[in-house]
Amino acid sequence: MLRDSFGRVATDLRVSLTDKCNLRCSYCMPPEGLDWLPNSQLLTADEIVRLVTIGVERLGIREVRYTGGEPLLRRELPDIVARTTALTPRPQVSLTTNGIGLARLAAPLAAAGLGRVNVSLDTLDRDTFKKLAHRDRFTDVIAGMAAAHDAGLRPVKVNAVLMRDVNQHEAVPLLRYCLQQGYELRFIEQMPLDAQHGWSRDTMVTADEILDLLSAAFTLTPDESEDRGSAPAERFLVDGGPGRVGVIGSVTRPFCGACDRVRLTADGQIRNCLFATEESDLKSAMRAGATDDDLAQRWLAAVARKRPGHGIDDPSFLQPARPMSAIGG
Ligand code: 5AD
Ligand code: SF4
Repeated sequence: MLRDSFGRVATDLRVSLTDKCNLRCSYCMPPEGLDWLPNSQLLTADEIVRLVTIGVERLGIREVRYTGGEPLLRRELPDIVARTTALTPRPQVSLTTNGIGLARLAAPLAAAGLGRVNVSLDTLDRDTFKKLAHRDRFTDVIAGMAAAHDAGLRPVKVNAVLMRDVNQHEAVPLLRYCLQQGYELRFIEQMPLDAQHGWSRDTMVTADEILDLLSAAFTLTPDESEDRGSAPAERFLVDGGPGRVGVIGSVTRPFCGACDRVRLTADGQIRNCLFATEESDLKSAMRAGATDDDLAQRWLAAVARKRPGHGIDDPSFLQPARPMSAIGG
């Protein structure tokens, strides 16, 4: 098992399939994009499946989430999903995507065994979308979410990041829309993971503020129907339910103590935390001929070194060298 020195066990693997993206969300990357990893550095589909297989068969991984950058940009995604769901014991497989291309891919992905999707949507206004993501793709995202719902990938979860003076006023309309469509909305506090290092505590809309904004229009009561476990979202029933909303207070209400996640970057590095400053290079080891046993040992050692928390509040906190798009959310 992937156990760390604080007794936490990693069972949830987040795999970034590419650092590239077809949007430029301002809390993530600059409008001009980033220097993408060269293709030779990206894990191939076979390498990804090999590492995921080691995780599932030997190390107790029970849930695999494919992410990016934008994972739908990897043509082999349906194949990777099919090969993942064919493993024993069969892991749960989910996807975090910006929704562009999902209209076409939702059905083939469901057929490959994908269980659920999380789609990012920060606004219901096409112009604001264009401003925020620097691309005019709002309608593609809306169509993608609908296709996921129709393909049976339920519940469709929607991730929204609120930014002061940009889309903060959309908290209530976003929730209304998601309730209407049968999607489960979760607000995520903005984290210091943008490539431009533009994050600041003053512009971050906090979990408390999000709950205040929503409480102006809805009655929220903590949802105690399920144990929260390692889930980052605090969930609330909206107006008595069954509709729900989640708030992920990554910064002001950290949940590191219950974390069960470990990450594999698109270039084959194991990260034991989003905010880790060290990585373990499985790609080089694999390409130098490491056996499955060697790779499993390195992976175990990387998780064993996991720190107790992200330490954003420590004066010594350093933002990781890689942005979110290169780590996987
Ligand atoms: N802070 C919070 N959430 C972020 N995301 C991307 N960058 C950040 C950030 N700096 C979100 C995306 C996506 C999920 C993977 O994380 O919107 O929904
Ligand atoms: Fe792309 Fe996601 Fe970053 Fe937006 S947050 S630019 S969709 S990787």
